[in-house]
Amino acid sequence: MTLLLSADETGIARAAALLLAGELVAFGTETVYGLGADATNERAVASIFAAKGRPHFNPLICHYPNAAAAFRHVDANEHARHLAAAFWPGALTMVLPRHIACPVSLLAGAGLETLAVRVPANATAQALLRAVGRPVAAPSANRSGQVSPSTAEHVMEELGGRIAAIVDSGPCPIGVESTVLDLTSPHPVLLRPGGVTAEAIEALVGPIGRPIPHAVAEAARGLRSPGLLVSHYAPNLPVRLDAREVELNEALLAFGQPLPGAGCVFNLSESRDLTEAAARLFAGLRWLDREAQNLGLRDIAAMPVPDTGLGLAINDRLQRAAAPRSS
Ligand code: TXA
Ligand code: MG
Repeated sequence: MTLLLSADETGIARAAALLLAGELVAFGTETVYGLGADATNERAVASIFAAKGRPHFNPLICHYPNAAAAFRHVDANEHARHLAAAFWPGALTMVLPRHIACPVSLLAGAGLETLAVRVPANATAQALLRAVGRPVAAPSANRSGQVSPSTAEHVMEELGGRIAAIVDSGPCPIGVESTVLDLTSPHPVLLRPGGVTAEAIEALVGPIGRPIPHAVAEAARGLRSPGLLVSHYAPNLPVRLDAREVELNEALLAFGQPLPGAGCVFNLSESRDLTEAAARLFAGLRWLDREAQNLGLRDIAAMPVPDTGLGLAINDRLQRAAAPRSS
């Protein structure tokens, strides 16, 4: 049975005790819900992969209550320190070289010489990390390949019965995952667009390497960040991108004024606000997928979203949702 804990002192203390005992606990962050385990406990980390059905080569992000704690386990450079001062706590994950004495389980880092570290801003996540006093490894709390959860209910649907507890801190305000930035070379590279925009990062550190189009990215990206599989965040129904009109028997993921003629519609943002759209993206895809299947519709047509600001992260997730499936 999976306990649903409230995000108060008692719930957080219980969650921390479970984590320290090697159990899995999902918790809300400002981006999406994470599936947490004590990152220094190899068995606990292994059970994350089992619960998610995740390939073992996909490395996990380690969460810390502050930059000082994170930078005890990785070698921070000047860029990393500047970015931490500007964006932590917040939706930025930095990939940096692991310290030789880093106590994080090798499995969490998938055996790489680098480690992805993040300081989440959400008050519940902060309180939990302080109570645990150890790094917490946490991928998004979904079954591998599925849409990331932005509410405790989503986590319960996917992982209920497989994990010890979920701390319910309400819906995640940002709604897409953190930005993953590789800082292991002097020229930072964006591995995954996310909650902190590429523009905001570039304003601080200058031009960064941007992702290349998905069609050609798989091989190159697979080497840098093995977990960034193309087909990911996938609803059950196929997704058709860049829809300019609705075809017969389609559901519509709208942005702005909805196209006419859809069997059912979820609007990411009527006012074309990218922040609102990001926050509603995963819940919208889940809802639309379920509704459309109930109505016997054949696919989800997604209206175009501009590729600026949070739009880059939204389009990245939509392209993955639309990518050819391996099975
Ligand atoms: O917002 C988020 O980042 C959420 C919350 C829970 O913090 N977490 C999350 O974790 O999205 P996950 O595991 O679903 O995605 C982490 C991504 C993966 O694509 C993984 O391949 C990449 O970060 N990553 C992790 N460690 C890495 C490393 N050492 N080098 C390169 N990429 C890494
Ligand atoms: Mg994920």
